[in-house]
Amino acid sequence: MDPLYIEVWCRSAYAAEVIELQTDGSYTLAPHMDKLLLDNDFPGYIGGLPAVLLAPEMFGTFDENLESGERLWWDKCSPEFIESVQNTGRAFYNRLIPNGIAKIDGLEDKLSQGARVLELATGAGFGLAKMASQYPKCTFVGVDGDAFSVGLANDQAREAGVSDRVSLIESMLEEIDYDSEFDACVINISMHECRDIEKVTANVHRALKPDGVFVISDFPFPESTEGTRTVPARIMCGIQFFEALIDDQLLPTKAYVDLLGRHGFSNVEAFDVTPVHAVTFGVK
Ligand SMILES: C[S@@+](CC[C@H](N)C(=O)[O-])C[C@H]1O[C@@H](n2cnc3c(N)ncnc32)[C@H](O)[C@@H]1O
Repeated sequence: MDPLYIEVWCRSAYAAEVIELQTDGSYTLAPHMDKLLLDNDFPGYIGGLPAVLLAPEMFGTFDENLESGERLWWDKCSPEFIESVQNTGRAFYNRLIPNGIAKIDGLEDKLSQGARVLELATGAGFGLAKMASQYPKCTFVGVDGDAFSVGLANDQAREAGVSDRVSLIESMLEEIDYDSEFDACVINISMHECRDIEKVTANVHRALKPDGVFVISDFPFPESTEGTRTVPARIMCGIQFFEALIDDQLLPTKAYVDLLGRHGFSNVEAFDVTPVHAVTFGVK
């Protein structure tokens, strides 16, 4: 690992009381930080974030990206970056499956009884493999626009022993074309990345069967300037700064509630899983 990266990380972690400086000049993790930073199956895991936020392909091209406004697409990102993103998404999936899903009226039953599920922006496939293991009667289609991620997701499904129930498709979400095929559709920390969320939501509405459920799991950006003053909201602001570099935008949960309403979903509701993780859902 780059020594500069370690140095920057240690200094900021020391300032944040994440690590303690010992008399011999070495650092030791403060109590409980091992769970937060090193246990990637802990639902509060945040150890994936530093590598994402310090990726040289993001900040190293800040001046170019800012001037041109051009989006850095995933095929220009290093495999290390894509793996780190997977580690960030992992905690969201661990909170969503099964506990978050259980809070959505009727969805747990639907999935336990056997359903056809579409996962959008499936990335490296951790969530798809986890859902497939958790709900053994379901079949899944995972879609992602990045070929490298689709390859990782295929490996992940094979390793989890679920590839007989999982298919992966490389496609932009704005271009998917399914008609009344799925009982549920899930998208994790990726709706804020879509160029055209109206098109994606219209595609999902068409892809779902009547009574099908659309679940958006994402970061909740505060609705007002006042709302940015809490500690979780400041984390959202830090992530928003990063998203701005790649021309993405975190949205308040209300924007997703309105989006689903505009596209004809009913029973639209939202809840916070944690102060930095919200779920919005609606029924076709
Ligand atoms: C932040 S990652 C999240 C991946 C995964 N859901 C997770 O939580 O680990 C975003 C993923 O969305 C994909 N993506 C973003 N916008 C997309 C679009 N418009 N069409 C298809 N894929 C897209 C990227 O290729 C990337 O794999």
